[in-house]
Amino acid sequence: MTSTDLRGKNFITLLDFDREDLDAILAAAHDLKQKYLHREPHKLLDAQTLFMLFYNTSLRTRNSFEAGMTQLGGHAHFLQPGAVYTPALKGEERAYSTERISDVARVLAEMGDAIAIRIYGKPTGWSYGKGNRIVKEFAAWSRIPVINMECDMFHPCQAVADIMTMQEKLGNDLKGKKFVMSWAYSASVEKPLAVPQSAILSAAMMGMEVVLAHPQGLDLDPMIIAETKERAVRHNGSFEICHDMDKAFKDAAVVYPKAWTVQPIDGTPVDFDKANAVFQANKDWICTAEKMALTDDAIYMHCLPADRGMEVTDEVIDGPSSVVIDQAANRLHGQKGIMALIMAR
Ligand code: CP
Repeated sequence: MTSTDLRGKNFITLLDFDREDLDAILAAAHDLKQKYLHREPHKLLDAQTLFMLFYNTSLRTRNSFEAGMTQLGGHAHFLQPGAVYTPALKGEERAYSTERISDVARVLAEMGDAIAIRIYGKPTGWSYGKGNRIVKEFAAWSRIPVINMECDMFHPCQAVADIMTMQEKLGNDLKGKKFVMSWAYSASVEKPLAVPQSAILSAAMMGMEVVLAHPQGLDLDPMIIAETKERAVRHNGSFEICHDMDKAFKDAAVVYPKAWTVQPIDGTPVDFDKANAVFQANKDWICTAEKMALTDDAIYMHCLPADRGMEVTDEVIDGPSSVVIDQAANRLHGQKGIMALIMAR
């Protein structure tokens, strides 16, 4: 399928992977999608087990991993923290009934082939970086690969599905296409930074003309901004930040409007009153048909679930430009590509 050997690697952030690795994952994902559509057997992970630990709810991530493992000939176990002695961070004060991550990771590693974790927001007290540290703590103790199913910093599986979808709609070479990651209004301020941060990083890795649009006060992590700029230069693309949604949308090939919260990156928890005030002042950041008309016949993207009537109108998300169901479908194929490469024996 590819000459890039990713066997045994953790999949926590695209910062750990170069373009060649990403291309290999995408090639595997496209290939496995064709095999799935043509009902060709592709049991590459025969009898292997993926343990999935969800601290947060999920529709797409859980079901795409479960279905994906079945199709690859293995099985995915759904684990809820409360039912398996909620693992706590090393050195942290914890309830009597919890187990250390060091023990949980080492025990699961003796029974299966990869561990996947989702943790952000409420289970971390909305303290930025804590979810990512928990995922990395698992990886430090596990001798089998660890997959990030979304932490507070990154959602790399979503990013792979998103790039795959753009390739299907715009062609394999995305270089030079204008990609707009835009903030959009929501009545809920409980929105992590993981999707926009992974989206701009991956679009920059593809050499796209990346624009990050948001109102003042909704900055992403400066480390991610610096890494995105570095990748834009390395892959002959571009990166800019804009505070005007209409201006950002002009001539775009792809728009990806979604909410994220006012998140202090020093670990101080989100101030929900402050975040709410910023959100309420920017209710006009909604993706409408009028805004889509400013683009160069752009596709409309969203990781879902979307806040209809706030982030986007029904007309747009249910309209001909929308590729949101393709993105959701590609979660299955993208993750099968990731698992096939990192869990290969
Ligand atoms: N996009 C995404 O991760 O969806 P779920 O929260 O349903 O898994």
